Amino acid sequence: MSKLVHAQWSSKMTFVLAAAGSAVGLGNIWKFPYMVGESGGAAFVLVYLLCIAVIGLPILVAEWLIGRRGQENPINAMAELARRGGHLPAWVLVGVSGVLGAFLILSFYSVIGGWSLSYTLGSITGTFSGQDAEGVGGVFTGMLGSPVTLLLWHTVFMLLVIGIVARGVTKGLEGAVRTMMPALVILMLVLLGYGMTTGHFGEALSFMFRPDWGAISGEVVLAAMGQAFFTLSLGMGIMMAYGSYLGEEVNLLGTARTVILLDTGIALLAGLAIFPIVFANGLDLNSGPGLIFVTLPLAFGNMTGGTLLGLMFFLLLTFAALTSAISLLEPVVEFVEERTPLSRVVATLVSGVAVWALGILALLSFNLLGEFLILGLNVFDLLDTFTSKILLPLTGLGAILFVAWCLDRQSVAAELNLSGAGQSLWVVVARYVAPLGVVAVFLHSLLG
Ligand code: PFF
Ligand code: NA
Repeated sequence: MSKLVHAQWSSKMTFVLAAAGSAVGLGNIWKFPYMVGESGGAAFVLVYLLCIAVIGLPILVAEWLIGRRGQENPINAMAELARRGGHLPAWVLVGVSGVLGAFLILSFYSVIGGWSLSYTLGSITGTFSGQDAEGVGGVFTGMLGSPVTLLLWHTVFMLLVIGIVARGVTKGLEGAVRTMMPALVILMLVLLGYGMTTGHFGEALSFMFRPDWGAISGEVVLAAMGQAFFTLSLGMGIMMAYGSYLGEEVNLLGTARTVILLDTGIALLAGLAIFPIVFANGLDLNSGPGLIFVTLPLAFGNMTGGTLLGLMFFLLLTFAALTSAISLLEPVVEFVEERTPLSRVVATLVSGVAVWALGILALLSFNLLGEFLILGLNVFDLLDTFTSKILLPLTGLGAILFVAWCLDRQSVAAELNLSGAGQSLWVVVARYVAPLGVVAVFLHSLLG
């Protein structure tokens, strides 16, 4: 199906909302805090922030730029730009691995989206009210131990994603994103306020921002970089696909700054809301994926109006997860739709069911398949590790190398409205700092 006139975003605001809807999700509220907890706190946070600024920002801009110039889905966009410039056709791999990454990530992302759904219902039925740390922990372990429960919620979550993508109403979500995003921020501020009443806020602050550089290892640095890619939805062709709908007038650097500030702000806010609760209740910093599911119900269980606030929070979290999940399914569906005679609806179903099936293996990692290890990792961890730590950074690396080295330098500078010192800075960062940063992190982690 050829699109003669590739549609464009109705306005710049629409685009920002779509990009933010993809970026802000479980990565900020679920994943970031538990990674900070596991990786020793501030040192991880600072490396993460550095990765966002020096690697994430230029790659985000590079992906949008490729998408806008290619005016097509990521694979075709890369193929077209490489052909036009007389570069190796192998650049198309950047687009291909993006689609693969999206597919793999969605499979386990949906499992956690399911947890969020389950906790939304739990808030309604009062599962958490009056529970202490042990009780809340019990609810969480109980959920993990039940393959049927996990399967049920994973299925509901995927059905929602499939339903929305099949109807092609993704853009209809703009309005919702516009209201949900501020609501989410407000609720996080409420949680932050609660954290301040626990008497452990200072402890949380220094845990997150006073680095113990001894905690830095190759592994921590790689985890921080992987999280930077994951949280900004980079290296998956998603931002490229969004860029293809961008009009010429949109300022890429300025928009990237907006999206990044929002995404980073929400992640930091989540950390600041969660760690006071961890310290106040003597919970384990190493709780892993369960961290927010044991801390937040405790907080809601102990504050005035907590039942309602908890319900709103998990609803909003589910919604944020949905908008990210939709952005993950889109490129996969687009790929199937373009390469097979299937209609959009059938292509969505086929892709969605494939993702769902892989997700079952991921959710069984928490129970029946807990001992089934590949390279020492269960399926869930393997999917997460392989995508965040390898696939996304490599794909993002491809994108920035292509923009910095293969596209015409002057026209890129012009497209970014850069000249003089700004242009030189861009060239240095895009050609050397960001790519070498990725490579250095890989080497550092390989060599310990
Ligand atoms: N950026 C999303 C988050 O932080 O939750 C997750 C995600 C969405 C990752 C889309 C990758 C992606 F392509
Ligand atoms: Na994010």
